[in-house]
Amino acid sequence: MVGKEYNAPILAGVVGWPVSHSLSPLIHGEWAKRAGITGRYVQIPVESEYDEFARAMDDLKSQGLKGVNVTIPHKEHALRYADLASDVAKRVGAANMLTFGEKTYAENSDVIGFETALGQQLGMSSGRTSALILGAGGAARGVAAALRNIGFLDIEITNRTREKAEIVAALFGMGVIDWEKRNERLPAASVVVNTTSLGMTGQPPLELDWNRLRPGAIVADIVYSPLQTPLLKAAINRGHLTIDGLAMLMHQAVPGFKAWFGGDAVVDDDLRAILVAALKKQGRA
Ligand code: ATR
Repeated sequence: MVGKEYNAPILAGVVGWPVSHSLSPLIHGEWAKRAGITGRYVQIPVESEYDEFARAMDDLKSQGLKGVNVTIPHKEHALRYADLASDVAKRVGAANMLTFGEKTYAENSDVIGFETALGQQLGMSSGRTSALILGAGGAARGVAAALRNIGFLDIEITNRTREKAEIVAALFGMGVIDWEKRNERLPAASVVVNTTSLGMTGQPPLELDWNRLRPGAIVADIVYSPLQTPLLKAAINRGHLTIDGLAMLMHQAVPGFKAWFGGDAVVDDDLRAILVAALKKQGRA
């Protein structure tokens, strides 16, 4: 007797520390449901050292995972671990996606995630080409790469620790502003992006002179807990278009889903509503 064909579920996941609050399983779960794909996308806590990360990746590969998203503190480890990497990942110096195969391939979809979210707000005829990036960590590098890809010509970066801003500025041909002088740059910037942890739940707010924001400037914040940071709240109250961390999170997930589960991945209001509900349930929205 011939039995029913067995479809093994496609496996993927997110690796980080901590990772228990990750919304990525919800995003991939929703897309798998929509596409009728049998898949599992799991949270994989891996402690912070490279050796542990590498061991875990070897293990996941041998267990048949198609790939993983990688989050804090492993994005640089992911690039180091991979056999091959995209130009974007190499340029940023970090990867948030590993795809397992004969060779392990590193990608940085944070860049396309921010590009897509910003592209939607910019619309067709924006004429906006100047930007200010606050912060100089890994997220700032991704944002800088995205702004350059979109064609922003005049980008300045400011960071509490100036030396770190100088390193990122040299990589992407940007100017550096002293952290104490960040407000002076606001009138010139048509896009302002917070990549610092300021404004996150439990952190101090980002101090910025909202009144100096240029009319029509777009304000983005990579923080998504709380969903409406003090920065975004002030920007919305002044009538600015904004991009929140959830928009970036949803868009960065698209390439992973397509690569591992092989289905369509659409970012829409329904998906957003699922994530907002989850954040509220966790008391984080
Ligand atoms: P990620 O890789 O996610 O960007 P990170 O490397 O920890 O995270 O970067 C955090 C950013 O927030 C840094 O730019 C950091 O500034 P420093 O380079 O001076 O540390 C910034 N940041 C964190 N706390 C801050 C604070 N209290 N005031 C100003 N900037 C702060």
